Amino acid sequence: MGQSVLILIKPDGLKKSLTGNILSRLSETKLEIVAAKMVRVSKELAEEHYQQLKDKPFFAEIIKYLQGDLHDRKKVMALVYWGAEAIKKCRDLAGSTNPEEAESTSIRGSYGRITTGGIYENVVHVSSNPSEAEREIKLWFTPDEIIVDLYAAKDIIQKEIKKKVWA
Ligand code: TYD
Repeated sequence: MGQSVLILIKPDGLKKSLTGNILSRLSETKLEIVAAKMVRVSKELAEEHYQQLKDKPFFAEIIKYLQGDLHDRKKVMALVYWGAEAIKKCRDLAGSTNPEEAESTSIRGSYGRITTGGIYENVVHVSSNPSEAEREIKLWFTPDEIIVDLYAAKDIIQKEIKKKVWA
């Protein structure tokens, strides 16, 4: 049975030019990439993403971090990987949340740091379990942006919706 997982390459990963390295490391899992895009992260999206941490003292800082305010890179790369044991495989490769506790060869152990303000800049986000993965993937992607049918979706007709198309 396949599993899906949301991966974010956070603004510190982009600023340090680590995108290629991180994708190479993730390719060791032999999982399939089923969605990928660059995202400009709104405050609302960041707060929704980290909703479980809203009472933590570091909440405001990690919202700024995900939005790119700390790295002058106002974007993240969002990907969905799919395959057997996808969450465990990607979390093992990412390493512990605290980069100093992460195994030194893991992505966070290799590239993460703790700021002087005490925030873990750990380069990537990886969903923690299947229900979080579903919640996060539905938050970051629409059904049309994922090349396989991961979750139930429906067709609707929306009239008078303003959107940009090619001129
Ligand atoms: P969390 O969801 O607990 O960890 P993970 O990203 O490994 O699933 O935390 C979200 C982010 O918040 C984490 O990637 C880095 C930051 N963070 C801190 O800065 N300090 C902390 O003590 C914790 C627990 C997290």
